[in-house]
Amino acid sequence: MAPPGKTATEEAPALRPLEEIKPEIIFGELKKGVLGQDPALSFVAVALFKHATGRVSGNFLLIGSSGTGKTTIMNNIQRLYDTVPEYRPFRVVTILNANLLVDSERTEFHGDRMLAAVEQRARVILGPEPTAEELKESIERATVCVDEIDKMTTMVLGRPNPIGVVMQQGLLTLMEGEVVPYRTFAWENGEEKKITLEINTRRMMFVCGGAFEGLYDQVYDRVTKRGGGQKLRSDTIRTADGQVRVQQRFSLADYLKLQDLFIFGMVPQFISRFDKLVLLEDLSIATLKEILLHSYDSPFIRSKRFLETLGIELELEDLAASLIAERAAKESRAGARALRDLFTEIINPYEFDPWGQGTLEDAGDGKQRLTIGAETVRKVLK
Ligand SMILES: Nc1ncnc2c1ncn2[C@@H]1O[C@H](COP(=O)(O)OP(=O)(O)OP(=O)(O)O)[C@@H](O)[C@H]1O
Ligand SMILES: [Mg+2]
Repeated sequence: MAPPGKTATEEAPALRPLEEIKPEIIFGELKKGVLGQDPALSFVAVALFKHATGRVSGNFLLIGSSGTGKTTIMNNIQRLYDTVPEYRPFRVVTILNANLLVDSERTEFHGDRMLAAVEQRARVILGPEPTAEELKESIERATVCVDEIDKMTTMVLGRPNPIGVVMQQGLLTLMEGEVVPYRTFAWENGEEKKITLEINTRRMMFVCGGAFEGLYDQVYDRVTKRGGGQKLRSDTIRTADGQVRVQQRFSLADYLKLQDLFIFGMVPQFISRFDKLVLLEDLSIATLKEILLHSYDSPFIRSKRFLETLGIELELEDLAASLIAERAAKESRAGARALRDLFTEIINPYEFDPWGQGTLEDAGDGKQRLTIGAETVRKVLK
């Protein structure tokens, strides 16, 4: 399909029909930026495929502990649409925080703020002087990611939270497919005019996300309380230092029921607007190590680039990386963010004064090499 305003012949390489970009391919693209989380990504890939091919895609809600990749998934949906040429008509992706959609003082929902954010993005993509038709089309195809949705619950600290109710009800109405009048400007016969677009939100795709922090404890308590009747799974793991341990594993995905979300403070009608609750897993040690060594914004890679500018090659021994990942996994409430804290602590003295640590080797070509070994990591993590 040619992007709006262009004929197929203007595009250099032939574009694939959208039907040919199968969920498997979409999954592969998302994987470049999201490590682990395969089950969640396969749902996301199918939903994106349906959305892009004009089928009913369904909206989904990402639930997962802090630092496990919810916002990263949203960013990667945006990156996917931005980089795959065939998806040009879908590039309008907006990521916003749920609290931006309400006015707390007046306890009002502001759906127009969402549309304004979408419109802004649409204008960047359409370029100057879009027509009313082009704007409407672009906005209606948008993907709207609403992050931090869990901060908008109906109860906070045991008290009713009216703004949460207003936010969930407002958003559910939009997600249901409403025709919303939206005032803006567009070009017509060489002139910019005031117009009102009738935006139908039915074709938009909504991706919401939240950590639902208390939910984890809430479900854990329900499952483990006496008479709960369920036993936690346990895994045998081998640590980087060669010890074997049996660890009880509690994964929200194994036990979560819709009822838990209502008790948490989500409006049942709102939750029922989602076709799928997509649960992210807590990151395993192996995935954390992978994120440390290879993800786009890995703290190790950032330091590597920084030291490169000083003529120093940074290496991280395999065991050292495992030890950092293992420690990060223990800080289960921070997810992959723990990697950054830990690594920054380890690397800071070297970034402060790389030549003062007495550990540089000659790497040839006038360069030097700095290797962070297991001993250095153990010393800092002790
Ligand atoms: N699955 C993952 N793959 C790659 N990087 C990840 C993954 N999960 C987390 N990260 C990295 O960890 C950091 C935090 O991740 P992210 O912002 O996606 O967390 P989140 O789930 O949105 O957490 P929060 O609930 O606190 O907002 C990012 O820098 C990201 O690069
Ligand atoms: Mg986030």
